[in-house]
Amino acid sequence: MKVQNLDSSEPFSVRVEALLAQMTLEEKLGQMMQLAARDGDFDSYIERYHLGSYLHAVGDEVVRLQNLNQDRSRLKIPLIFGIDAIHGHCLEDQTTVFPVQLAMACTWNTDLIKQMGQVTANEARASNLHWTFSPVLCMGRDPRWGRTSETFGEDTLLVSTFAAALCEGYQTAEYPLAACAKHYAAYGEASGGRDSADVHVSERVLRNLLLPPFEHLAQSGCKTFMAGYQSLNGEPCSSNIWLMNDVLRKEWGYQGVVVTDWNNCGQMATLQNAAVDLKEAVFQCLQASNDVFMATPDFFDLAKELIAEGRIAESRIDESVRRILKLKFELGLFDELKAPDRKTLLADKNRWDLALQAAQESVTLVKNTGVLPLSSATRRILLVGENADCLRNQLGDWSFIPGMAAYEDTTSHRADTVTLYRALLDYCKRDGIELVYLGADFVGPEREQSDYQYIQQQAAEADVILFCAGDALKQYGEFHDRADLNLPGNQNPAFEILQGSGKPLVSVLLMSKPHCVSRVLDKSDAALVVFNPGAKGGVAIADCLFGSFNPCGRLPISFPRHVGQLPVYYNQSPGWHARLSAHYGGQDAYVDLPSSPLLAFGEGISYSNIEYGEARLSCKHLSAPEKAVELSLSLTNNSDCDAIEIVQLYCQLWIPGVTGPAKQLLKFERICVAAGESSQVVFHLICEDFIVLNRALKKWRYQGKVELMVGKSSKREDLQMLALTIV
Ligand code: NOJ
Repeated sequence: MKVQNLDSSEPFSVRVEALLAQMTLEEKLGQMMQLAARDGDFDSYIERYHLGSYLHAVGDEVVRLQNLNQDRSRLKIPLIFGIDAIHGHCLEDQTTVFPVQLAMACTWNTDLIKQMGQVTANEARASNLHWTFSPVLCMGRDPRWGRTSETFGEDTLLVSTFAAALCEGYQTAEYPLAACAKHYAAYGEASGGRDSADVHVSERVLRNLLLPPFEHLAQSGCKTFMAGYQSLNGEPCSSNIWLMNDVLRKEWGYQGVVVTDWNNCGQMATLQNAAVDLKEAVFQCLQASNDVFMATPDFFDLAKELIAEGRIAESRIDESVRRILKLKFELGLFDELKAPDRKTLLADKNRWDLALQAAQESVTLVKNTGVLPLSSATRRILLVGENADCLRNQLGDWSFIPGMAAYEDTTSHRADTVTLYRALLDYCKRDGIELVYLGADFVGPEREQSDYQYIQQQAAEADVILFCAGDALKQYGEFHDRADLNLPGNQNPAFEILQGSGKPLVSVLLMSKPHCVSRVLDKSDAALVVFNPGAKGGVAIADCLFGSFNPCGRLPISFPRHVGQLPVYYNQSPGWHARLSAHYGGQDAYVDLPSSPLLAFGEGISYSNIEYGEARLSCKHLSAPEKAVELSLSLTNNSDCDAIEIVQLYCQLWIPGVTGPAKQLLKFERICVAAGESSQVVFHLICEDFIVLNRALKKWRYQGKVELMVGKSSKREDLQMLALTIV
């Protein structure tokens, strides 16, 4: 694809200027537009708008549109194609479907997340796509929110670390894909958990918890950012001057491309009442530093009018077009693009090994009284629950063409997906076990009494019962929030019958996000959280149940006991009142419920008994900036299987005049402890680990007392305390 008059020996910056100088205003505005390649006459956008970008084109459409652009556009500036390749490039069939972000976060395996990014990039590039709207940096702090499964959970350090790894994977793959840090910012904090509702958070919360992952990605080279749908403290993100200009561009010096979310601009006028009409909305979004307007076709004419009226300078348009052209050059779009061969890529078995490893490492065992791994004496298993054999619910959101939330597709990924039921069939066949499956319709309408009697009868005949509980794709995703986090449909009544049988009972929580499952946890002998584990999820769960894989996941998000407890995330600042009442025994609590979560952040066990030795500090004072204090401890694996342990280090600080959480994750180490052996874990602590925001919201190198807490979860009883002073 050659554009006239460009000297390819010149640096990108020179070529960008040379190209910009040849462009008409209309051609520039077209570069700032991204429209969907679906519905209506989308071919015509190339001439009508001089379009610069399509989203959601897949398959042969991509090449066809790129060729059309070469034929019909004057300057032949290549189109950039955007796609939501969120947990694999899974909007296309046959590609690798990894666990969703929330499940990936359970692995605490940064390198694995990076590798998922690399596989995704190569597969998307093989389909001639260039730009993925991923990673999601929103926090999952309110599980009513329909998009919780898209997050890496509730903690800033985890979100920052895993998002950076995924971004690095995309952008350093053999065939790099531009990443997009989204949704900037605080989108997950929507009031009432209602998707895209207003967000009201203080600057302290923003700067302490919600912005650091974005800052990290802005500074580590993430090529693009996407503004959230919602408003932040009363101003839509896309026109929020403080967020877009002051923080992103000026404070962080971000030079990359910023795209609006889907018609953010239009909805400012039609839904958010922030602009009297669309033209005013375009004006406001141009004042903020948006570069690409997604799904706002009217942008073209209205921006032209604003320029003709002198309200927007053409130089403002040039600024954005420079950034967009630079991105296109960096991605190699102007060169004869070498796309990987799709067939060869898809024939590579390693990608499925990686998806299986990811699914296995994401399985989080949260209870086991000894019933797991399943005993070799097991002769008959009763498996109950729709999600044990439901491809859609196993793969989760953004797995189907065209990828919109809750979109149901009955054909994609069939050939590659192994559900829990299918995987168990293989194990049962191998071991001569009879498997009875009662699956269908547990989230459907009321069931007949006779159905329950049948379950009861089957339960009575089983050696072990597996209850696969969860939610369905139509119950989450964009604009699919839940006010009730109990198990939907008939799952609770079914569970009561199962638990009443007195048979060993294992629950598998295959769900998009935390649910209120107190009763299930209490009455099960073992429980696994697997979220949406991707195409090989069924195999991974079966491997854990049968003991061929020692589970090692840890929860990146807390589970509430009751929806009324929200928020329940681990790093809240303690209040001072409740615990003073004798009624609560010194704990924070409601009158009718504890305030602690049902399952805590960081929680998870394995089949090994890992003993934590006494933690020691090399020095009780941290003073010289260049000299680290070491916190060390040994782990001993008293079992006969190798284990992966995730050692978590939290801290509590006392910042003058500022309330703070009782604990905040500071570092973690993921370590393999061989059967019967010990391993040493060492954390290096330096003064820079304790840069905090002071009362005036300025960065301050903390001084004073630090309480360090190290152990296997965020629960008090799992942690050893050590005192350190920073001088
Ligand atoms: C809307 C979603 O909020 C965003 O995450 C996605 O990337 C875009 N639409 C494009 O599909």
